[in-house]
Amino acid sequence: MTLLVVGASGHLGGEVCRRAVAAGQRVVGTYHAHPGAPAGVEARRLDVTDRAAVRALVGAVRPAAVVSTPYRYADWSVTADGAANVAYAAAEAGARLVHLSSDALHAGRPEPYADDDVPTPVFAYGAAKAAAETAVRVVDPGAALVRTSLIVGDERSRQVRLCLDALAGRGVLFTDEVRCPVDVGDLAAAVLELAASDHAGLLNVAGPDAVSRAELGLLVARRFGLDPGGLRTATSAASGLVRPVEVRLDSSRAAGLLRTRLRGVAELLAP
Ligand SMILES: NC(=O)c1ccc[n+]([C@@H]2O[C@H](COP(=O)([O-])OP(=O)(O)OC[C@H]3O[C@@H](n4cnc5c(N)ncnc54)[C@H](OP(=O)(O)O)[C@@H]3O)[C@@H](O)[C@H]2O)c1
Repeated sequence: MTLLVVGASGHLGGEVCRRAVAAGQRVVGTYHAHPGAPAGVEARRLDVTDRAAVRALVGAVRPAAVVSTPYRYADWSVTADGAANVAYAAAEAGARLVHLSSDALHAGRPEPYADDDVPTPVFAYGAAKAAAETAVRVVDPGAALVRTSLIVGDERSRQVRLCLDALAGRGVLFTDEVRCPVDVGDLAAAVLELAASDHAGLLNVAGPDAVSRAELGLLVARRFGLDPGGLRTATSAASGLVRPVEVRLDSSRAAGLLRTRLRGVAELLAP
């Protein structure tokens, strides 16, 4: 069976590739601006905004399953249109699709969000991720759509690097922005399980611990043996930025469905 990982040069995509190669799968992985892919992966350059190129690659590779990860924070054409192009090509080739979505499509509220809660985006990135979901669901109702939260791990995690920067005085972490971080390895294992399953539709796949970004910074300080006293914090409310504040994903359905254990961030970042 061939697995196509779109975004193999990325944090999650790279981890999905490494695990699939280790499991003996043939893996084709794409990059865009950053050439390369993990060892054992057949790397191909792909721009997901180029619909003809996406169709040509998927048609040539003939994957049994496609994992779709690409996004650019401020680029609708990559995040929304690109996801639609991948879904269209996967459906055309009869390939199983796992699409990566985000908690950023929720507005934020004190109560946890269920798997099927409709998007309520408050900023452009969240709107693009919501549009991507709609496109994927229309084009391929059998696809699995994984809503996830802050992806953590080692220094390759952008979220961990943000914490390290704030601990070094080069940025701030919000005390009022709450998320449910997930380990990149746990998430990659869950994605591969879903690729081999017939689960259709939305699924929250995040950790069970809800923490603020500032609390995440303190956990990162402990994990890396850094002085937490250096951590600079602020509030999202006072920043003037329009961002979802409290977003807790209820991942209990995924926890029951999957063999992969989704660990909480306190356990993940234990020293
Ligand atoms: N990171 C988080 O904390 C987080 C939280 C919630 C949801 N998510 C979702 O999880 C998924 C993976 O996130 P990540 O952190 O692993 O992302 P990432 O490390 O930034 O990787 C993004 C990937 O997208 C590729 N890409 C960008 N523009 C492209 C284009 N025009 N054509 C083709 N590929 C393109 C990049 O390739 P190059 O680098 O080679 O250009 C890279 O492989 C995303 O869908 C994101 O929305 C992430």
